[in-house]
Amino acid sequence: MADKVVLAYSGGLDTSAAVQWLKEKYHMDVIAFSVDVGNEPDFPAIREKALKIGAIKSVVKDARKEFVQDFIFPALQANALYEGQYPLATALGRPLMAQLVAETALAEGAAAVAHGCTGKGNDQVRFEVSIGALSPGLKIIAPAREWGMTRQETIEYAQKRGIPIPVTVANPYSIDQNLWGRAIECGILEDPWTEPPEDAFIWAQSADKAPAKPEYAEISFEKGIPVKLNGKMLDGITLIQQLNDIAGKHGVGRIDHIENRVVGIKSREVYEAPAAIVLIQAHQALEAMCLTRDQLRFKQMVSTKFADLIYDGLWFTSLREDLYAFVQSSQRFVTGDVKVKLFKGASLVVGRRSPYSLYSHGLATYDKGDSFDHTAAEGFIKLWGLAARTQKQAQGKK
Ligand code: ARG
Repeated sequence: MADKVVLAYSGGLDTSAAVQWLKEKYHMDVIAFSVDVGNEPDFPAIREKALKIGAIKSVVKDARKEFVQDFIFPALQANALYEGQYPLATALGRPLMAQLVAETALAEGAAAVAHGCTGKGNDQVRFEVSIGALSPGLKIIAPAREWGMTRQETIEYAQKRGIPIPVTVANPYSIDQNLWGRAIECGILEDPWTEPPEDAFIWAQSADKAPAKPEYAEISFEKGIPVKLNGKMLDGITLIQQLNDIAGKHGVGRIDHIENRVVGIKSREVYEAPAAIVLIQAHQALEAMCLTRDQLRFKQMVSTKFADLIYDGLWFTSLREDLYAFVQSSQRFVTGDVKVKLFKGASLVVGRRSPYSLYSHGLATYDKGDSFDHTAAEGFIKLWGLAARTQKQAQGKK
């Protein structure tokens, strides 16, 4: 009996070619394993395709709930944006997939796992570091890294074997998507001077085609987790889907990023992530009301590191867990509502309120009801400026 290999299967070009390649090269029985992280409406078709092209078994796992609760929302609470731009959709999905693939390999008594990542990207790092951390000793095969075929050669390889391929002239991009966003790569996008063509985008429409009237989205958070949209209690999956639709319709969420990959390559990455962008913006606005200046500054440092760890494939590490413990603790008063205005490609926070707000109208107002002690300012400034005055007097002449 041939050894079994569990292949993380997306139904795309590389993983489809890999089904055949694993059989031809390693003589293994391939179990195609697909994870629903809100990425594909048509999993039955993916199952059917896997079996048709030679997998002995096809398993689809709906992991959307875990993905939202255990990966997306912690990243949102941290305001995780890689290099200040990328909400990390793909990077957040990989550790979860790796975990599920490793569990399936154990359950199926498989000798190895495989993934369709190339040798140039981040995803191979995330998969293999995660699997290595969770299931050390499990053999990992990376067909797309081993076979040494160009994209065009892979297309021909697949065509020769009757494998239906999604890449056509009309669809020249490589796509990876889940609930938190859609990454678009390859083709003309590899020229960083060329504006991404309209056909690259599906979720966030062109601002000039967006509705002529603005729309408001009111998002309610509890301890940093979004729980309501426009006053309606929603589960996380539905809330993100609805916000992707609403904000995307108004042209919000397009990202064009020159990104530093883990393997040292700079790459031009195009994303659309309407819900992620709006939610992070709204969450930050609420934090601005509920956290002190010191908390905000410190959390910003944590956020940068947290995003780097996610991007770098280090989800399953103690540092990531420790930083999350801080992030989670920081959220205990981040409860309240944020009003976001969506209009012609822009999202603007235009209102916020919280039962734990640190904003005091009495302290802030220039009108009647001012409770700020103006007389205290003079002494404060005297001491605040003491070091500056001392220094200028002693050293300032030169
Ligand atoms: N550059 C992004 C990242 O590293 C997106 C990668 C998209 N992955 C893909 N297989 N097309 O997270």
